[in-house]
Amino acid sequence: QKETTVITLKNTENATTINKNIYGHFAEHLGRCVYGGFFVGDTSKIPNTAGVRNDVVTALKDLKIPNLRWPGGCFADTYHWKDGIGPKEQRPTIVNQWWGGVTEDNSFGTHDFLNMCELLGTEPYLAGNVGSGTVQELADWVQYVNFAGKSPMSDLRVKNGRKEPWKVKIWGVGNEAWGCGGNMTADYYAGEYRKYATFMSDWTNTGGLMRVASGANSGDYNWTETLMKNIPSNMLGGVALHHYSVIDWKKKGDAVDFAEDIYFRTMTEALKMEELVTKHSAIMDKYDPKKKIALVVDEWGGWYEVEKGSNPGFLFQQNTMRDAVLAGTTLNIFNNHADRVRMANLAQCVNVLQAVILTDKTKMLLTPTYHVMKMYNVHQDATLIPLTFESPLYTLNDKNLPAINVSASKDAKGLTHISLVNIDSKKENKIEIDLNALGIKTVSGSILSSSKLQDHNTFDNPTKIQPIAFKGFEVKKGKLTVNIPPFSVITLEGK
Ligand code: AHR
Repeated sequence: QKETTVITLKNTENATTINKNIYGHFAEHLGRCVYGGFFVGDTSKIPNTAGVRNDVVTALKDLKIPNLRWPGGCFADTYHWKDGIGPKEQRPTIVNQWWGGVTEDNSFGTHDFLNMCELLGTEPYLAGNVGSGTVQELADWVQYVNFAGKSPMSDLRVKNGRKEPWKVKIWGVGNEAWGCGGNMTADYYAGEYRKYATFMSDWTNTGGLMRVASGANSGDYNWTETLMKNIPSNMLGGVALHHYSVIDWKKKGDAVDFAEDIYFRTMTEALKMEELVTKHSAIMDKYDPKKKIALVVDEWGGWYEVEKGSNPGFLFQQNTMRDAVLAGTTLNIFNNHADRVRMANLAQCVNVLQAVILTDKTKMLLTPTYHVMKMYNVHQDATLIPLTFESPLYTLNDKNLPAINVSASKDAKGLTHISLVNIDSKKENKIEIDLNALGIKTVSGSILSSSKLQDHNTFDNPTKIQPIAFKGFEVKKGKLTVNIPPFSVITLEGK
C-alpha cells in the first residue's frame, strides 16, 4: 500500500504573480551557442532570417521565451560592443579568451541580437562590460540602443541602419565580478556598480532601466549583504545569483553515462536552490522589505563533462531525463519564491550546458529540458497558488531527499495549473489534492517520462522523449489523486 501525500492549496487572495521572466534564457558567445546555434549567417543553406536559423526561432517562439540574456557570461566582460556594429567586413576580430581561445569575426553584434529578439518576440537582457570596459563605453551602449533623439550614439545607430531605438530595459552591470568579471571583492564591486549605474541613463522613457548587479556565487551570502548595504536601492533593479548543479568542479561526471548515486548528488545540488533563494531573499528583506529589488537567478542548470571528442572550451553536453527532473524542480522552486525571484535564465539556450535546443549543422532537436519549460510556460504571469505538504523521502545510501516538489498557479482565464515532479528514481508516489476549495470540476494533464534516467533525444531519434497525455489520476468527490511515476514531470490543468 502506497502512502498518500496530501497537498493543500491555499486561496490566492493577495497572492503573488509569477513573473514570466523566471522562464528566461541565456545566449553567450560560447562554443556553438551563438555561432552555429542561433546564427549561421545569411549566406547559409540552412533556412534563416538575416542569418538567424528559422528552425530555432520557431522552436523558441513556441516555448514563449520571455527574455534572452546576451552576450555573456564571462564573455560579457571582454566584449566591446563597438566591434560588433557597422559593415560586417570591416569589423575587427576578437579572441574569445574564456571559451576555447577561438577567433571570432564579430559578425553577430548588437543589431543582430536585438533584431533577433524582435523576431523571437522576447525581451533583450544586455550584460554590460565592467571588468575590461569603461564607464563611457557602457553609457554609450545604452545611448546607442535606447536614445530616440539626436546624439552621437543614436546618429551612429541610424547610420548603421536602425532608425527607431530598441528601448532595452534590462541591463546587467558586469557578470560574476567575483571571478571572470574582474576578481573583485564585494566592497570594490559595489563601488564600481554605483559608478557605472550612475551613467547608464534611462533614455527609454518607459519607467526606468532595470539595472542588475552581478550577484553571488551560490552560497556567498556576504556578497548579497554587501551589495544591499552599499548600493542605494533606487539604483538597483535586481541582484543576481548564479548556481549550477554540479557535483564536483574537478570531476563533473558524464552527461549521459551516470549511475544513480551521481543522479542523487546532482539532485542534491539542484535542491540547494531552495535554501539559496530563501537565504539570499532573507538578506534582501532586511534592506528592501517591500521587495522592490528582484533576485535574478541569471545562470542556473546542470553542468557535466563536455561530450567526448568535443572542444573542452565549448561546454557541449547531452540532456537526459535527469535534466528534465532538474528543470522541473528548479522551476517549482522559482515559482514558489516568485515574490522575490522575478527573473531567471537557464544556462544556456542552444548547444551549451543545459540547453533546450541542440543543433548539428542542418539538424535540430528539442531536449527534455525544452519540453519541461514548455509544459511550465502556463505559469508565466499567472497568480501563484501557495501550497503546503510534507514530501515523502527519496532515500539512497542512507541519505534522503524530498521526493516530490510542486507549484501551482491560476492564469488570467481562470485555469489552474499544477506542476508536479517525482525525483525518486524507483518509487511511484501518490498525492491527493482537494479540488473543492479551488472550484475545479475537470482535470487534464501531460507527462514527461521515460524508461531510463539516462534516456535522451538524439539527432537520429529526436522525439524519443516528448510529453504525452497523462492519465494516471482520478477525481472522486472533489478529491484528485495522482500517481506520479519515478523521475517524471507532470503538469495538470484544472477548470
Ligand atoms: O555559462 C557558462 C559560464 O558560467 C558563464 O560564462 C559564467 O558566467 C559562468 O561561470
